[in-house]
Amino acid sequence: MKFLCGSDHAGYPLKAHLVAFLRSEGHEVEDLGAHNTESVDYPDFGHAVAERVGDGHGEGEVTFGLLVCGTGQGIAMSANRHAGVRAALCTSEFTASMARRHNDANVLCLGARVVGTGLAESIVRAFIGASFEGGRHARRVAKIER
Ligand code: RB5
Repeated sequence: MKFLCGSDHAGYPLKAHLVAFLRSEGHEVEDLGAHNTESVDYPDFGHAVAERVGDGHGEGEVTFGLLVCGTGQGIAMSANRHAGVRAALCTSEFTASMARRHNDANVLCLGARVVGTGLAESIVRAFIGASFEGGRHARRVAKIER
Protein backbone atom coordinates (compact mmCIF):
# COMPACT_ATOMS: atom_id res chain seq x y z
CA MET A 1 0.00 0.00 0.00
CA LYS A 2 1.02 3.61 -0.42
CA PHE A 3 0.68 6.04 2.49
CA LEU A 4 0.97 9.79 2.55
CA CYS A 5 1.94 10.75 6.09
CA GLY A 6 1.59 14.02 7.93
CA SER A 7 1.66 15.38 11.45
CA ASP A 8 2.09 18.51 13.48
CA HIS A 9 4.86 18.94 16.07
CA ALA A 10 2.94 16.96 18.72
CA GLY A 11 2.41 14.09 16.34
CA TYR A 12 5.89 14.13 14.86
CA PRO A 13 7.57 11.50 17.12
CA LEU A 14 4.79 8.94 16.59
CA LYS A 15 4.56 9.72 12.88
CA ALA A 16 8.33 9.26 12.50
CA HIS A 17 8.04 5.91 14.27
CA LEU A 18 5.16 4.81 12.04
CA VAL A 19 6.86 5.95 8.83
CA ALA A 20 9.76 3.62 9.68
CA PHE A 21 7.32 0.90 10.72
CA LEU A 22 5.37 1.09 7.46
CA ARG A 23 8.54 1.01 5.39
CA SER A 24 9.82 -1.99 7.35
CA GLU A 25 6.55 -3.75 6.50
CA GLY A 26 7.15 -3.11 2.79
CA HIS A 27 4.76 -0.21 2.24
CA GLU A 28 5.51 2.83 0.13
CA VAL A 29 5.56 6.00 2.25
CA GLU A 30 5.73 9.68 1.40
CA ASP A 31 6.27 11.91 4.43
CA LEU A 32 4.83 15.41 3.94
CA GLY A 33 6.08 16.67 7.34
CA ALA A 34 6.32 18.05 9.92
CA HIS A 35 9.92 16.92 10.19
CA ASN A 36 10.66 18.00 13.77
CA THR A 37 8.96 19.11 17.00
CA GLU A 38 8.98 22.85 16.28
CA SER A 39 5.50 24.24 16.75
CA VAL A 40 3.37 24.24 13.58
CA ASP A 41 -0.35 24.25 12.74
CA TYR A 42 -2.01 20.85 12.26
CA PRO A 43 -4.44 22.00 9.51
CA ASP A 44 -1.51 22.70 7.17
CA PHE A 45 -0.52 19.04 7.26
CA GLY A 46 -4.05 17.65 7.36
CA HIS A 47 -4.89 19.57 4.19
CA ALA A 48 -1.60 18.69 2.45
CA VAL A 49 -2.24 14.97 2.88
CA ALA A 50 -6.00 15.15 2.22
CA GLU A 51 -5.49 16.96 -1.09
CA ARG A 52 -3.64 13.95 -2.43
CA VAL A 53 -5.44 11.02 -0.83
CA GLY A 54 -6.99 8.76 -3.41
CA ASP A 55 -4.30 9.57 -6.00
CA GLY A 56 -3.69 6.50 -8.10
CA HIS A 57 -0.21 5.04 -7.86
CA GLY A 58 -0.72 1.85 -9.76
CA GLU A 59 -3.40 -0.29 -11.33
CA GLY A 60 -6.37 -0.46 -8.97
CA GLU A 61 -4.40 0.90 -6.03
CA VAL A 62 -5.37 3.73 -3.74
CA THR A 63 -3.18 6.13 -1.81
CA PHE A 64 -4.08 6.19 1.87
CA GLY A 65 -3.30 8.85 4.45
CA LEU A 66 -1.84 8.61 7.93
CA LEU A 67 -2.20 11.73 10.06
CA VAL A 68 -1.01 12.30 13.61
CA CYS A 69 -1.43 15.25 15.96
CA GLY A 70 -1.64 15.42 19.75
CA THR A 71 -5.14 14.00 19.99
CA GLY A 72 -5.76 13.21 16.34
CA GLN A 73 -8.87 15.42 16.47
CA GLY A 74 -7.77 18.62 14.77
CA ILE A 75 -5.91 16.93 11.95
CA ALA A 76 -8.88 14.59 11.31
CA MET A 77 -11.29 17.54 11.23
CA SER A 78 -9.06 19.30 8.71
CA ALA A 79 -8.75 16.27 6.43
CA ASN A 80 -12.49 15.62 6.51
CA ARG A 81 -13.22 18.99 4.90
CA HIS A 82 -12.02 17.51 1.59
CA ALA A 83 -14.44 15.80 -0.78
CA GLY A 84 -13.81 12.10 -1.04
CA VAL A 85 -11.72 11.97 2.12
CA ARG A 86 -12.93 9.78 4.96
CA ALA A 87 -10.54 10.34 7.83
CA ALA A 88 -11.08 8.08 10.84
CA LEU A 89 -9.72 8.87 14.28
CA CYS A 90 -8.93 5.48 15.75
CA THR A 91 -7.97 4.51 19.28
CA SER A 92 -8.18 0.74 18.97
CA GLU A 93 -7.70 -2.10 16.52
CA PHE A 94 -11.51 -2.51 16.43
CA THR A 95 -12.23 1.09 15.41
CA ALA A 96 -9.49 0.92 12.78
CA SER A 97 -10.77 -2.33 11.31
CA MET A 98 -14.38 -1.14 11.26
CA ALA A 99 -13.38 2.19 9.72
CA ARG A 100 -12.10 0.24 6.72
CA ARG A 101 -14.79 -2.47 6.66
CA HIS A 102 -17.87 -0.24 7.01
CA ASN A 103 -16.76 3.34 6.28
CA ASP A 104 -14.14 2.75 3.58
CA ALA A 105 -11.85 5.12 5.50
CA ASN A 106 -8.94 6.32 3.40
CA VAL A 107 -7.12 8.27 6.10
CA LEU A 108 -6.12 6.89 9.49
CA CYS A 109 -5.76 9.51 12.22
CA LEU A 110 -3.99 8.91 15.51
CA GLY A 111 -3.35 10.91 18.66
CA ALA A 112 0.27 10.79 19.74
CA ARG A 113 -0.76 11.87 23.24
CA VAL A 114 -3.42 9.15 23.32
CA VAL A 115 -1.82 5.93 22.05
CA GLY A 116 1.66 4.53 22.58
CA THR A 117 3.84 3.18 19.82
CA GLY A 118 2.87 -0.47 20.38
CA LEU A 119 -0.86 0.20 20.20
CA ALA A 120 -0.35 2.57 17.26
CA GLU A 121 1.42 -0.19 15.32
CA SER A 122 -1.45 -2.60 16.08
CA ILE A 123 -3.98 0.02 14.94
CA VAL A 124 -2.07 0.56 11.70
CA ARG A 125 -1.92 -3.20 11.13
CA ALA A 126 -5.67 -3.52 11.73
CA PHE A 127 -6.39 -0.67 9.30
CA ILE A 128 -4.20 -2.21 6.61
CA GLY A 129 -5.53 -5.71 7.18
CA ALA A 130 -9.21 -4.86 6.78
CA SER A 131 -11.08 -4.29 3.51
CA PHE A 132 -14.24 -2.39 2.64
CA GLU A 133 -17.23 -4.73 2.63
CA GLY A 134 -19.32 -2.77 0.11
CA GLY A 135 -23.01 -3.70 -0.20
CA ARG A 136 -25.22 -1.66 2.12
CA HIS A 137 -22.11 0.13 3.38
CA ALA A 138 -21.37 1.44 -0.11
CA ARG A 139 -24.80 3.10 -0.19
CA ARG A 140 -24.15 4.75 3.17
CA VAL A 141 -20.65 5.88 2.28
CA ALA A 142 -21.99 7.40 -0.95
CA LYS A 143 -24.47 9.41 1.15
CA ILE A 144 -21.58 10.98 3.10
CA GLU A 145 -20.62 12.87 -0.06
CA ARG A 146 -24.08 14.37 -0.61
C1 RB5 B 1 -1.07 20.87 19.72
O1 RB5 B 1 -0.79 21.34 21.00
C2 RB5 B 1 -2.42 20.17 19.72
O2 RB5 B 1 -3.45 21.09 19.92
C3 RB5 B 1 -2.63 19.42 18.42
O3 RB5 B 1 -1.57 18.52 18.22
C4 RB5 B 1 -3.88 18.56 18.32
O4 RB5 B 1 -4.03 17.76 19.44
C5 RB5 B 1 -5.11 19.26 17.92
O5 RB5 B 1 -6.16 18.66 17.70
